[in-house]
Amino acid sequence: MYEILQSAHSGLRWLVLATLIIAIVNSFGKTKGGVTFSSKDKKKALFALIFTHIQFLLGVVLYFISPKVVFAASSMKSDVLRFFLVEHVIMMVLAVILITVGYSKAKRTAMDGKKFKSIMLFYLLGLLLILAAIPWPFRDLGGSWF
Ligand code: HEM
Repeated sequence: MYEILQSAHSGLRWLVLATLIIAIVNSFGKTKGGVTFSSKDKKKALFALIFTHIQFLLGVVLYFISPKVVFAASSMKSDVLRFFLVEHVIMMVLAVILITVGYSKAKRTAMDGKKFKSIMLFYLLGLLLILAAIPWPFRDLGGSWF
């Protein structure tokens, strides 16, 4: 069970990153208005939101079953244990909030330019946080590429 969730969480990062980048790039140059926010644009933003939320749910389950999360004060002294206990989760939760806010702001406004702007800005901030909080193999935190 743990191995399946770990592989899913690790692999899904690529779908999260890809769908976020597609939604962000799709909004470039359309924030001034004049371009209709079509159902295709909405779908791109929605896919990124859904994959980010699935990744969040997998992360929450892993948080309570992963051997890398040790609920002890001494964990703060180890770079790896502190990363998974505190840093990864805080930054990822913030990123998920930003992306969710971006999507709902775009949904609520009637102006097409503002919809694109909201997706571009909030998704970009979320993406940057996610990139910074992923335990990439070169960071020596025990993470892998897939
Ligand atoms: C969009 C959000 C997230 C992304 C892109 C993401 C990405 C990743 C990646 C790439 C790994 C390393 C997997 C590996 O190399 O084996 C990882 C590990 C982990 N993540 Fe996340 N994560 C996200 C959100 C979360 C959240 C919200 C939590 C907790 C509430 C969480 C908990 C964990 C845990 C506990 C591990 C260590 C799993 C293990 O190897 O035992 N993640 N995450």
